[in-house]
Amino acid sequence: MGTASQQTRARALQWARQTIDRLDARLLLEFASGCTSNALITDPDVMLEDAQWASFQSLVRRRESGEPLAYLVGQTGFYGDLLTVTADVLVPRPETEDLVDWALEVLRACDAPSIADLGTGSGAIALALAGAKPDGRVLAVDVSAAALLVAANNRQQLERSNVEFICASWYEGWQAAGLLDLIISNPPYIPASDPHLAGDGVRFEPRLALTDEADGLEAYRAIAAGALARLKPGGWLLVEHGHDQAEVVAELWVRAGLVNVTSRADLSGNPRMTGGQKPAGGPL
Ligand SMILES: C[S@@+](CC[C@H](N)C(=O)[O-])C[C@H]1O[C@@H](n2cnc3c(N)ncnc32)[C@H](O)[C@@H]1O
Repeated sequence: MGTASQQTRARALQWARQTIDRLDARLLLEFASGCTSNALITDPDVMLEDAQWASFQSLVRRRESGEPLAYLVGQTGFYGDLLTVTADVLVPRPETEDLVDWALEVLRACDAPSIADLGTGSGAIALALAGAKPDGRVLAVDVSAAALLVAANNRQQLERSNVEFICASWYEGWQAAGLLDLIISNPPYIPASDPHLAGDGVRFEPRLALTDEADGLEAYRAIAAGALARLKPGGWLLVEHGHDQAEVVAELWVRAGLVNVTSRADLSGNPRMTGGQKPAGGPL
């Protein structure tokens, strides 16, 4: 048993709230002290052990410096799943859940769909689709072997054995058993010149997950170029992108031969996703 510090739970929270968000402070204290959120409310005067107080102080300082909460506690929620996240993967964003919703809409009438998630990171999109479509098969591709280890750990935790991992750059060097019903991706799309790359939170995330080190469109060019050869007639290509990229991504989709090309907005009204379909009557 450790020695007691001079800090109660309540005093520790008060200290942290001077510099970080109230909810973040509570979650970090629960994590550092191993107590439940209920215990924080019902027993605020319990003394923290020395080691707990030291760990809490260190976590609060890291949060103050902009490190994402998800990295500090090692997990985050996505589409109802609790995912492990480390600094090797992008922290899945709530807006990406809208892309999963769109995917499930286009797959509504599709039994046992065959899906590829390009740039899977933590596996967020692939695992959400695999959970919603247990008879489907999801190929989760990423060029980062470190990210795939995190995704594989999440697959195991969630027991989604219908996800397979491939370490590759987009379509290079792999072939699905048959043609795909859906290709989905939230690729790196921040232009290398964008100052947001140095911003709070984002600067702790893998650069490979954020930018193509070019104009932010390289991934869309590669993904569009290979889509028709991989999709079934009527199959969909759906991607997330930056708020000012919808027009150019839609143009790439049209030039690649996709039809029914449309973009969808996020809750703030910014177009953040674009999709298109391989013509139903096209070549197999
Ligand atoms: C924006 S993150 C998206 C992660 C996850 N799909 C999500 O939505 O939370 C982009 C992912 O693409 C991967 N990536 C970057 N370049 C790639 C490439 N050439 N081929 C495959 N994956 C790539 C990165 O490693 C990263 O995991």
